[in-house]
Amino acid sequence: MNKNILVEVKNLKTYFDTDDGLVKAVDNVCFNVKRDETVGFVGESGCGKSMTALSIMSLLPQPRGKIFGGTINYNADGNVIDITSLDPRAKEIRSIRGNDIAMIFQEPMTSLNPVYTVGEQIMESIRLHQKVSKKDAREKAIEMLKHVRISAPEKRIDEYPHELSGGMRQRIMIAIALSCEPKLLIADEPTTALDVTIEAQILNLMRELQDKFKMSIMIITHDLGVIGEMTDRVIVMYTGKIVEEASTDDIFYNPKHPYTQGLLRSIPILGQKKRLIPIEGSVPNLLCLPAGCYFAPRCPCAKDICRVKEPPNFMITEEHYCKCWLYDDVEEVTH
Ligand SMILES: Nc1ncnc2c1ncn2[C@@H]1O[C@H](COP(=O)(O)OP(=O)(O)OP(=O)(O)O)[C@@H](O)[C@H]1O
Ligand code: SF4
Ligand SMILES: [Mg+2]
Repeated sequence: MNKNILVEVKNLKTYFDTDDGLVKAVDNVCFNVKRDETVGFVGESGCGKSMTALSIMSLLPQPRGKIFGGTINYNADGNVIDITSLDPRAKEIRSIRGNDIAMIFQEPMTSLNPVYTVGEQIMESIRLHQKVSKKDAREKAIEMLKHVRISAPEKRIDEYPHELSGGMRQRIMIAIALSCEPKLLIADEPTTALDVTIEAQILNLMRELQDKFKMSIMIITHDLGVIGEMTDRVIVMYTGKIVEEASTDDIFYNPKHPYTQGLLRSIPILGQKKRLIPIEGSVPNLLCLPAGCYFAPRCPCAKDICRVKEPPNFMITEEHYCKCWLYDDVEEVTH
């Protein structure tokens, strides 16, 4: 595995075995996250963004969520570990989760424990992974609060989550996630619950901390504004599949997939009164997907082949891939 690649996901299949049938939440997904880069995951609700992240964390909803195939290779400085081969409750994955990969979730109130002070929660995370005394852990926790720009950290450390604002709670979550100095931070809709000013502060903070701690970030969002602000590369998902992958510039200025083009048409442009054009129709139910390309019923460019045969992945350039029959004149790749 190339040493610049931190995580390599190959043919990942994460399914839910439900009473109504097998729900393919993540359907044969392949991608890499390089060291120090920020990759954005975008797509409408239910397209498999969170389940991709939770597969990497080995934290799928139980008892039904399960990885049915594929590999998630984590490259811990030359020592490659396939996360899918580990028992989700085993010590090894807990150690990866604590020391190497951390995740921040959408709603900070549900992730923080209301009966413990924020200090206790940060210190617990520090002491779980580093052999330090209580006093040193407290000092480190105060230092983390300073990193995430909490004012009067010596006082705040003894407060309970309900005493803090939403923006502060999200900062605390970031402090907890970063207290183990992870190599990969997965942020699942980290700013959706916040107002725009606080959102901008949190995004700035994440960028600064990325420089300081030298980590890769996977950021999941519906918000193409956040994608434009934060990412180097973008992965567009639809119905459990990656339909386009490219540099952030290419996604914005040279999008190839009709779905990506549709998402871009639906974002507001500051200062423009132009009406938004939502993508027509809705995401299909994963239990009754159409034949061929899953986007065909909503696609303005659909051809006959689209309704019968699933498109393979076409390589537009070495860094730009698109799963769409419109590009069948370029090289086809296996992922
Ligand atoms: N507990 C569950 N049981 C059964 N199916 C589930 C469960 N959780 C998720 N799914 C299925 O997995 C699919 C992908 O869900 P996921 O949470 O990854 O979507 P998402 O892209 O993160 O959406 P959102 O933007 O709304 O957060 C959903 O469409 C749903 O069908
Ligand atoms: S494969 Fe066909 S239906 Fe699917 S996105 Fe491309 S043009 Fe549209
Ligand atoms: Mg989600």
